[in-house]
Amino acid sequence: MLISNDKTNKVLAIDYREKAPAAAYKDMFLDKNKNVDKSLSRFSHQSAGVPGTVAGLALALEKFGTISLQAALAPAIKLAENGFVITPRFFNGVKSKEKNLKRFPASAKIFFKKDGSPYKVGELFIQKDLANTLKRISKYGAREFYTGQTAKYIVEDMKANNGLITMDDLKSYKASIREPVHGTYRSYDIYSMSPPSSGGAHIVQILNIMENFDIKESGHNSAQTIHIMAESMRRAYADRAEYLGDSDFVKVPLKGITSKAYAKELSKSITNKASVSTEIKAGNAPGYESNETTHFSIADKFGNVVSNTYTINFSYGSGIIVNKAGFLLNNEMDDFSAKPGVENAYGLIGGEANKIEPNKRMLSSMSPTIVKKDGKNFLVTGSPGGSRIITTTLQVISNVIDHNLNIQAAVNAPRMHHQWFPDEIRIEEGFSKDTIKLLEDKGHKVVQKQAMGAIQSIMIKDGKFYGAADPRRSTSSALGY
Ligand code: DON
Repeated sequence: MLISNDKTNKVLAIDYREKAPAAAYKDMFLDKNKNVDKSLSRFSHQSAGVPGTVAGLALALEKFGTISLQAALAPAIKLAENGFVITPRFFNGVKSKEKNLKRFPASAKIFFKKDGSPYKVGELFIQKDLANTLKRISKYGAREFYTGQTAKYIVEDMKANNGLITMDDLKSYKASIREPVHGTYRSYDIYSMSPPSSGGAHIVQILNIMENFDIKESGHNSAQTIHIMAESMRRAYADRAEYLGDSDFVKVPLKGITSKAYAKELSKSITNKASVSTEIKAGNAPGYESNETTHFSIADKFGNVVSNTYTINFSYGSGIIVNKAGFLLNNEMDDFSAKPGVENAYGLIGGEANKIEPNKRMLSSMSPTIVKKDGKNFLVTGSPGGSRIITTTLQVISNVIDHNLNIQAAVNAPRMHHQWFPDEIRIEEGFSKDTIKLLEDKGHKVVQKQAMGAIQSIMIKDGKFYGAADPRRSTSSALGY
């Protein structure tokens, strides 16, 4: 989460990323033949990191909030207790995960009726156990989740299912306030998430590389612009795999990766033709420093803005509801590199910097971002979408800054993505045939895939807020109170 206030001009990041349990170890997801067991890393009690969301949101509320914990939780308690009306998106989501959710009795009990059929569109979805969990947090405070009855439920569930999370892991979990990553793009200030997310580092890096080209002149979503963006992304994702990990554990050369000079160096290797990912290695990012999936964007009349991305990784996370506690466990452990060179669920590869270690935070792509113009909050933005979060967010920034699109047009515009490997430009529907042909002539492989990201943005201009929800997700909306 990023928080900024116009008056103080200070931007802070709250890191509430999950952590590996103390008993986690490097090869925990390898089978006896040393292959990654994807079912174990994605859909088991071991796939869950020590949860951070409750601590993070409570820290934000305590330090910067204006209402009580009880008032903040009341609407959620009501929705859990009395139910919400099931939408087509929710119905389809549960249907698509039916097999996995039914593997776990507590999940089956909540998501399906007694006869095993799913709740239908228009019916109420009621979650009594979750309501009770939220009531306990409301009554005893956020630490209840980490030390009280809820923690006991989590640990019981772990013990019964080969899970690793212990009472000590929960007790010692803390959210922390960090400095966000800062860069500039054509006279705008860009603030975004610092490690353990790779989001901010690579949004700034890709924009820095793009700054060496006349993107405005090349035109929005033209073959030339897509080519430059793809080549910049390819180089950034190669660095991501090599250098990025939890900065409490590994030295991340953040200054080097986000420096203008390094971006200039990288931009010199971009020619008019597509490069080949097998020939692109992580760059020589200078300046190692000493140690050191839902998005919402909010602005208020006091000059505060908040940009927040949070996730349990996949939709429905690991698919495991904690028995009696009524909430789903994340499967963020799959965001670690289970084995060097082997892809995670988003096709991302990594190595040493992002190997599993006890108490370490797994690398993320989450990129809550605040763009400032002349010291004032200008854009509040961010997106879900796994590896596509970084590229989705930076395209909306470029659409506004380079192409002068209004915020809704910037969000709606078809998007592209490159992540080094697989060596291809992914595009959404909506690019012209001749653009694709021109890219193929340069040597790119272009593949059309499903919609990418769901970016939720606010543009602040002349004292007015312009909210833009992403039409790619039917449950997105822009609201003013
Ligand atoms: O932290 C990350 O990068 C991923 N766990 C985010 C997952 C995500 O965005 C899924 N949403 N569509």
